[in-house]
Amino acid sequence: MPIEITPIQPLDIASAVDCIQKAFEDDPYANWAFDKRPGKFNKDRNFHSLKAKCEWGMKHALFFVAKDTSSSKPDEVIGVSMWMKPRKTSEPVTWEEWFDDYVLWFKQGLNLIWYQGRGGLRTDRYHVWKREQAKAQAELWTDPEGYYFCNIVVVRPGIQGKGIGKMLFKVVSDQADKDGRKCYLESSRDTPNIAIYQKLGFDLRKKMVCVSEEGDEARCDLFCMVREPQKPVST
Ligand SMILES: CC(C)(COP(=O)(O)OP(=O)(O)OC[C@H]1O[C@@H](n2cnc3c(N)ncnc32)[C@H](O)[C@@H]1OP(=O)(O)O)[C@@H](O)C(=O)NCCC(=O)NCCS
Repeated sequence: MPIEITPIQPLDIASAVDCIQKAFEDDPYANWAFDKRPGKFNKDRNFHSLKAKCEWGMKHALFFVAKDTSSSKPDEVIGVSMWMKPRKTSEPVTWEEWFDDYVLWFKQGLNLIWYQGRGGLRTDRYHVWKREQAKAQAELWTDPEGYYFCNIVVVRPGIQGKGIGKMLFKVVSDQADKDGRKCYLESSRDTPNIAIYQKLGFDLRKKMVCVSEEGDEARCDLFCMVREPQKPVST
């Protein structure tokens, strides 16, 4: 399967969002943060929310898609990775970033009005996650040079385990190694993802526990992993 990894283009967005939705269909975090009961979860609303995030990511993130150039559907996105660029602790947010964050917020507000609600997102749980995420990053992000933060990584179900995820990681981890910078991710699944990420050079540093008001019954654990920069293997 000849796989091509390229920066995302506007025409890729719909297929990329479809790929993300399919890969996260049974994701522990998604199942915790969204009310998936019939009539509660609105897939179309979720699509447009992810689309707004992808449009934002096209400008501000390191955002790649994988395609199988030999397939009968060569334009289909079969894998996605979106990484936040490292920010030095001394580096302030730029006006452009501030403005585009506001544009994203505005688009999400329009979705809220258009769909008359959040389409199943449990906002209380979302805020618990945001709070625990901020705490974990404050504890673990000790390097003033900043971290490449893997925000999204998915491969379409049915073709996982064939090396596509590794290629999506490599394009950024090679850059991180060149810069001498660290990478960071939060995995919502322990098995098999921790083992997969360990093979890609990440170490487990912390279990982030998100407990909502419903108590321990309804909790979600996320696994914070860091990858130290690696020296190229000399041949
Ligand atoms: C996690 C994910 C992105 C990894 O991509 P992938 O294409 O399946 O992974 P790869 O085939 O590139 O495998 C990468 C490495 O992990 C190993 N690996 C793959 N599947 C594995 C498994 N089930 N158990 C242990 N190791 C595994 C591979 O052998 C490879 O290591 P190697 O280079 O030493 O051989 C993909 O499986 C996925 O989208 N999962 C569902 C969505 C998800 O959980 N996303 C991440 C949310 S944090």
